[in-house]
Amino acid sequence: MAEKSWETLEGACRSCKKCRLWELRTNVVIGKGNPKADILFIGEGPGQQEDLQGKPFVGAAGQLLDKMLASVELSLDDVYIANIVKCRPPGNRDPYDDEKEACLNFLRYQLKLIEPKIIVCLGRVAACTIIDPEFRITRQRGQWFSVKGYEFIATYHPSALLRDEEKKRPAWEDMKAIRKRWDELKGI
Ligand code: URA
Ligand code: SF4
Repeated sequence: MAEKSWETLEGACRSCKKCRLWELRTNVVIGKGNPKADILFIGEGPGQQEDLQGKPFVGAAGQLLDKMLASVELSLDDVYIANIVKCRPPGNRDPYDDEKEACLNFLRYQLKLIEPKIIVCLGRVAACTIIDPEFRITRQRGQWFSVKGYEFIATYHPSALLRDEEKKRPAWEDMKAIRKRWDELKGI
């Protein structure tokens, strides 16, 4: 196989029709941040603003995510942010299994390009897809899992924090744990 590159990935995503979600998309949303980051955040799928702008987490949930990152002194220079599916599910419904299945190869490809050390699943959909289909976000968020040389952790999706203030505190604890682990890995 030819060497992996961002150009190849972007070309393949932009012309992709592997699941029904291509039909309503304005833009494919691939990711943003540092393409060589140690920390990869994975959300669910683009919402309306993301579909319009072609970038992940630029709407209300994205603004909260920015604040949470800033609260532990992380920025887009330190992290990369992507989603499970790269086209917007209509009305922001959860992506279906066949859509996730169709799109996951792109995320796997991205993972090989980025080679992060820490992978953060934002919310239930990402955690169930990436860590364990039976994942219970309320009970298992904040726990570390180690698979194939990557360290995984899940926290609440920022949209969940917008709906329920009580989740903000535990989500902040998770952010601090992520920051601490990153410092440890860097040997600070
Ligand atoms: N929610 C997500 O899961 N991803 C985005 O990119 C925006 C909102
Ligand atoms: Fe292709 Fe993924 Fe978009 Fe489906 S969601 S059309 S698999 S890029």
